[in-house]
Amino acid sequence: MPRIEDIRERLTEIKPLGSQQDIVRAGLVRAVDIVEGNIRIRLATPGMPQQTLNVLVADIRRAVGALAGTGQVHVEIEAPTRPSPYGDLGPLPGVRDIVAVSSTKGGVGKSTIAANLALALSHLGQRVGLLDSDIYGPSLPIMFGINEKPAMTSDKRIVPIERYGLKLMSIGFFLDESSPVIWRGPMVMGAVRQFLKDVAWEGLDILLVDMPPGTGDAQLTLVQQVPLAGGVVVTTPQDVATLDVERGIAMFQQVNTPVLGVIENMSDYVCPRCGTHDDIFGSGGADRLAADFGVPVLAKIPLVPELRTAGDSGKPLFLQQPLHPVSRIFLEVAERLLGAIEAGREAASPPTILG
Ligand SMILES: Nc1ncnc2c1ncn2[C@@H]1O[C@H](COP(=O)(O)OP(=O)(O)OP(=O)(O)O)[C@@H](O)[C@H]1O
Ligand SMILES: [Mg+2]
Repeated sequence: MPRIEDIRERLTEIKPLGSQQDIVRAGLVRAVDIVEGNIRIRLATPGMPQQTLNVLVADIRRAVGALAGTGQVHVEIEAPTRPSPYGDLGPLPGVRDIVAVSSTKGGVGKSTIAANLALALSHLGQRVGLLDSDIYGPSLPIMFGINEKPAMTSDKRIVPIERYGLKLMSIGFFLDESSPVIWRGPMVMGAVRQFLKDVAWEGLDILLVDMPPGTGDAQLTLVQQVPLAGGVVVTTPQDVATLDVERGIAMFQQVNTPVLGVIENMSDYVCPRCGTHDDIFGSGGADRLAADFGVPVLAKIPLVPELRTAGDSGKPLFLQQPLHPVSRIFLEVAERLLGAIEAGREAASPPTILG
């Protein structure tokens, strides 16, 4: 049987694809032991793409297996540890997955996308909530045509307003349009925390959080309040390749939250009169982003006037025109999103033994 030192020595010769550092120096090797004549190597590989991981495991088995007197070589992958506690709220009771929809810039269509995506997820049989956490510019009341105030439960919790099968909450439900509110930073956080904690969200599969634009402290604090299943970054083609969007992705990575994908909005303009496609904002950025960061492009949504008029009418496009090409795109995004959430859940489950 080889000695543990010999095995470790062999492991120092192995580098993951694209990495300059060997797996021992990089701290990926958590344990090496010999159990009943077989070698067991335990690795921690947070965030490593599956393809790279497969190659790495094959390399390890080949290198260690070549040592004289080796039995079987088992490589175990540790489940990624997620930071905890998140803020101090922890998971929301009765809510399976929380997904943040964010953007680094304002006005890129985050709220429009969150609303239609929520309806598409609901169409797929999910029980969906939508929290408009944009304190400065709440848009949910207009998009869903709501002008009533939420009720309170007997234990002083806020009952979300139900519309089109969704549970909705927005600071806009409490504001008087004629009295502008001046918010200070701590008040913003307080309000958002309250909307997570003091709203009776129970009984949801997915809670979509429409985030305020940007990647500042307020947004970072928000994504740390509760454990997120993931984040979606919305961008426009002219911004997609900029440092801004990288910051948006980095914000989620900082709190160990997977970025489920990027949505490029106002992508390709189809002229309503002549029907020709026109890339008004340039193209290819989302694909570059996917290649550079390993973050998938969930969709490219064209600029279509119907999306805006429906948004202003109180009934989002997905409901008004379910067969509209853009509604079909939202349905695809919803399916992809569910797949990505599921994949994330599997990656976070207990260690799998490869080989
Ligand atoms: N693909 C699209 N085609 C046409 N209009 C769109 C599209 N996406 C969004 N819009 C319109 O653009 C405007 C801004 O969209 P929206 O309010 O969803 O952006 P936002 O990112 O949430 O903005 P904010 O940062 O202010 O919260 C709205 O009038 C909306 O109807
Ligand atoms: Mg918005």
